[in-house]
Amino acid sequence: MARSSLQPSPASQPVTPMEQPPAAALKVRIAGLAKRYQSAAGPVDAIAGLDLDVREGEFLTVVGPSGCGKSTLLRILAGLETATGGAVEVLDRRRRLPAAVVFQGVSLFPWLRVEDNVAYPLWVAGSGRRRRKEAARAALERVGLGRFARAYPNQLSEGMRQRVAIARALVADADVLLMDEPFSALDEPTRLLLQEDLQAILGKSGQTVIFVTHSIDEAVLLGDRVAVITARPARVRALYDVPFPRPRRYTEVRHDRHFNDLTVEVWEALREEVAGGIRAAPAES
Ligand SMILES: Nc1ncnc2c1ncn2[C@@H]1O[C@H](COP(=O)(O)OP(=O)(O)OP(=O)(O)O)[C@@H](O)[C@H]1O
Ligand SMILES: [Mg+2]
Repeated sequence: MARSSLQPSPASQPVTPMEQPPAAALKVRIAGLAKRYQSAAGPVDAIAGLDLDVREGEFLTVVGPSGCGKSTLLRILAGLETATGGAVEVLDRRRRLPAAVVFQGVSLFPWLRVEDNVAYPLWVAGSGRRRRKEAARAALERVGLGRFARAYPNQLSEGMRQRVAIARALVADADVLLMDEPFSALDEPTRLLLQEDLQAILGKSGQTVIFVTHSIDEAVLLGDRVAVITARPARVRALYDVPFPRPRRYTEVRHDRHFNDLTVEVWEALREEVAGGIRAAPAES
């Protein structure tokens, strides 16, 4: 059956902003974060003085100019990179890992079956074969790929592979899901479907999410809040509340005036950072 999300939606009503929910507990605290890389051309300050609090169960989207330090921020949160200043903390730990990452593009092992890719974090953690298989199968069901457990990644479409990467992050059982442009390589219809699927999956897991994207529409569609990051070095320039209930459908919100006003506001803040960053960039010699 065709997915209704891709059909025109003449009956859709303007979405009304919801009432302010009770303040949730703090989940991630980032204070005075700094990262200086050493490169052949000298030191590179990727992040300098970045402060950000993320609430339990919040879906925070992050936009910023290319090269401003967004992936660096996620890598530090994931423990894949060390900060050179400040602190990051995942509070009130309830799950096995503090954070799990979904990277952009190819991130699956091509020689492993889909279920073994998904089970990989459990294999690293030393879980037994049976537990790995059960958890991988359950996660694949959640992303709608139960039938493809025995397939290899090259037998799937790019959208399906990205779903597998999400299943793998779910299996890792982390307090915070870090997503670095997970849908940017996908065609638009697939991206719109995965945006809906992700909201449905997270509605059940209740995990806190930090989601980096270059798409302003995607940031406003998915986020409870949108953080606009400055040109390098990264700091938080502005935070926008998106006061609409989740899950949201693109077909429902795209005609809503409040929603569109917010999209324009985010773009205006981002535009200044992108333009400033481009003007400040050294000329090619
Ligand atoms: N290992 C490294 N050594 C030196 N410089 C680095 C290293 N990794 C990243 N950088 C620099 O740090 C800055 C931030 O990089 P980062 O990848 O975090 O940006 P980004 O915001 O994710 O960019 P994009 O939107 O293009 O993905 C860039 O100027 C980049 O060149
Ligand atoms: Mg990046």
